[in-house]
Amino acid sequence: MNNVVVFGSQWGDEGKGKIVDLLTDKADLVVRFQGGNNAGHTLMVDGEKYALHLIPSGILHPGKLALIAGGVVIDPEGLLKEIDALTARGITITPDNLFISEKAHIVMPYHRLLDLARENLQGVNKIGTTGRGIGPAYEDKAARIGLRMGDLRNLDYFREKTVHALLEKNHLLNGFYQVPSVKLVDLMALANVWAERLTPFLSDTARLIQSALGRGDHILFEGAQAVQLDLDHGNYPFVTSSNPIAGSVTVGAGLAPGKIEGVLAVVKAYSTRVGLGPFPTELKEETGEYLRTRGVEFGTTTGRPRRCGWPDSVVIRNSVELCGADHLAVTKLDVLAGLPELKIATQYLLDGEKIDFIPADIQTLDCCQPVYEKLAGFNVDLKKARKITDLPKAARYFLDRLSELSGAPLGLVSVGPNREETIILHEYF
Ligand code: IMP
Repeated sequence: MNNVVVFGSQWGDEGKGKIVDLLTDKADLVVRFQGGNNAGHTLMVDGEKYALHLIPSGILHPGKLALIAGGVVIDPEGLLKEIDALTARGITITPDNLFISEKAHIVMPYHRLLDLARENLQGVNKIGTTGRGIGPAYEDKAARIGLRMGDLRNLDYFREKTVHALLEKNHLLNGFYQVPSVKLVDLMALANVWAERLTPFLSDTARLIQSALGRGDHILFEGAQAVQLDLDHGNYPFVTSSNPIAGSVTVGAGLAPGKIEGVLAVVKAYSTRVGLGPFPTELKEETGEYLRTRGVEFGTTTGRPRRCGWPDSVVIRNSVELCGADHLAVTKLDVLAGLPELKIATQYLLDGEKIDFIPADIQTLDCCQPVYEKLAGFNVDLKKARKITDLPKAARYFLDRLSELSGAPLGLVSVGPNREETIILHEYF
């Protein structure tokens, strides 16, 4: 196998960062293909904690290439902060190991302001976005009025497009949302810095990927967010503005469908959701609090407490099917230790009938009650387990049921945040 797409199968924050970091050992290239700095991947490497938002985690491994492909939206301010913070910690980032697509769209400061202003105006109907301007940036891409990273090579053209964009954006900001408008001179001052610092990193990343495929290099495609937040397949409108399903790698990175070789679903051993929207297995009582505290379930990007609940195999099965997952990478199994009883949702009860799919409209989904299978808990510290047989029987049974109900075999099990705290059942690359 020469390439693997790693994706989130629930509502994000499944621990994709650790899984990608682990697989990077044998990869040559690590590629981000959708989303922006709304993503937050927390990694523990040699006892040090890193929080990455835009830069693929491959950057932490000397000798590996990190690519931000054209399907990503890039906030240059956020990207530069990330580059500077990593550089200050001794990580080498140069145009020889970080490649940014010239086709990637830019998240402009007015996108962030519009995201926040819209959320404020929505009141109780807000989505609970990360406030990073991701939705407005993708809107402009689709409306064909977006600015792309490659436009930074020609600041006259950049200026012309910005003048045009500001006519509409300032009208919205000032006239409609009644927040201060944005000045062209300020944007151009920023654009000058972005151009100077970021254009050396720009390239045609789709061609780089084609060349890497031709050489038989190992490529890891790092998904952000998750299937239930997918613009088309998630719980619309409580979704993000990109497509986190695995197939989106074809558009976002330029990988032909037939070239996808491996698909790995990252599944947290329980469920979490940050932001608003349906969550059938949410636990609003002390078990939810137990998971939040033990799992340190607070957003990497916004610091918001995550909503916690039981694992939901209706959700995971849906993601496995939509993405064609070959294996599951189950994360944070250790967090479940100490609970006297575990539950997995197997179906939903809707109007007295059992269903095993996710209704498309959120009003119906809100009426769904999970049907649970109850399993024995375990109260053992799992962090030292390196083989599946090191796990207590109850933990193994839980994993087996999760895998059977979800429709994909186990590939990896993570029992702690560090690289070595992992049980590997299937080798990639
Ligand atoms: P946006 O992507 O900032 O527009 O936010 C839309 C929804 O997706 C909100 O519910 C966010 O909390 C959620 N979201 C976006 N990125 C992530 C992520 O990386 N992890 C978890 N939730 C996310």
